[in-house]
Amino acid sequence: MKKIITMLMLILSTLSFAAKKLYVGTNAEFKPHEYLENNKMVGFDIELIRAIGKRINKDVELKNIAFDALIPALNTRDIDVAASGMTITKARSEKVLFSSPYYENALAVVYKDGTTVNSLDDLKGKKIAAQLGTTGADLAHKIEGTAVKEFDHSNEALLELQNGGVDATVIDLPVAQYYSTKHPDQHIKFMAYPNTKEYLGLAMNKDNKALQEQINKAIADMKADGEFNTLYKKWFNVDAPADMPVVLDFK
Ligand code: ARG
Repeated sequence: MKKIITMLMLILSTLSFAAKKLYVGTNAEFKPHEYLENNKMVGFDIELIRAIGKRINKDVELKNIAFDALIPALNTRDIDVAASGMTITKARSEKVLFSSPYYENALAVVYKDGTTVNSLDDLKGKKIAAQLGTTGADLAHKIEGTAVKEFDHSNEALLELQNGGVDATVIDLPVAQYYSTKHPDQHIKFMAYPNTKEYLGLAMNKDNKALQEQINKAIADMKADGEFNTLYKKWFNVDAPADMPVVLDFK
């Protein structure tokens, strides 16, 4: 009997050491950060969170949901992490925890070559598309006199431009870059929007400080041993900036 109990205890303790699940939410229509390829979610953020999962001994399970549903899903603990090209903003920091920044971002204006949008001034009073709940949508609303059309998915905001429904789309710079190079037939132009530097981070539930610590340590280790740079170079063709802050503080 004693032997059986010892055996059972042994089995139980090994089970508790087995990798636990890490539920990760993303909105996979944001190339190169996250997108679908043959029905599988791929991209820089996806590989980053998988690498982090390995380092903290957790099995990453991805959920593809709407971008503006990510923070509510973190709050209800339907997901543990949002890995979705999410900008670290002051307003969001009041609702969720962020990891160390993993990408230095800026916003861009995407427009069709030959249209009247040739400078930022031309955007005043124009029809602009953006993805719902994003920093791009916030910016579009701030430009004087614009009519902003917001879409659940960033692809739809770009498609609206292609179809002539809007004059321009405001979206993250790397996404604009990828889009214009991958669709040369669309005569798409883009320009970085001045003074929109921001950082992307992984978001977590406000009470999950333990996970935030683990993730930050994994990111720091990946930066130190070169795995971060390898991944960064694979997706963005350049070295990761050496001067990314470790903590973004808005106080
Ligand atoms: N960086 C922008 C923001 O946080 C847009 C992110 C959109 N991400 C996505 N996977 N669609 O507002």
